[in-house]
Amino acid sequence: NTGAARYLPGEHTLPELRRAAAGCRGCGLYRDATQTVFGEGPPDARFLFVGEQPGDKEDLEGAPFVGPAGRILDRALKEAGIDRGTVYVTNAVKHFKFTSKGRRRIHGRPSTAEIDACLPWLTAEMEILRPAVTVVLGATAARALLGPSFRVTRHRGEPLPHGDTIMVATIHPSAVLRAPNRDAAYDGFLADIKVAARAGT
Ligand code: URA
Ligand code: SF4
Repeated sequence: NTGAARYLPGEHTLPELRRAAAGCRGCGLYRDATQTVFGEGPPDARFLFVGEQPGDKEDLEGAPFVGPAGRILDRALKEAGIDRGTVYVTNAVKHFKFTSKGRRRIHGRPSTAEIDACLPWLTAEMEILRPAVTVVLGATAARALLGPSFRVTRHRGEPLPHGDTIMVATIHPSAVLRAPNRDAAYDGFLADIKVAARAGT
């Protein structure tokens, strides 16, 4: 397991990348997960949303953000006036990491090594998409895209020009669900998504 680079296809299109990623063994996470969950959305998307890794539901369905975190994200997109047809969603890590507790599968945080191993997929997606705005959802995506010293809590909701995209970091939608005051956490999340919406128009 020396990273995803050796699994990249010769031709970089989203369908070719998706097909190749299905067979990735660039780190150990492919072993216990059901399938690779690749990004989804149109190749001309103005907005790229990058999460952490697929959750339980995403692992079973093979699509990103189709579980509880996805419902929070969908609601914020709608309330910020971002059209779903302009959005591509993906994750920093493409396989579900978990520990089993009886029948339940408990989400595990991807390690730095796993984030690094999986980065070639995200980089390839970004090179094809060239999104106007890249929304960085939570610490794992921030580590992948903005480096280990970036602090989401300090710089969330700031438009950060990066090459030809504008990055906007915010908390992960799952953090909204876990927050002691969910409404306040959601309002903060929505405010950051609105910054992204403005940056893309
Ligand atoms: N959380 C993520 O980071 N990504 C998903 O696809 C689902 C939940
Ligand atoms: Fe490959 Fe990423 Fe899955 Fe690891 S998590 S096996 S690098 S696709």
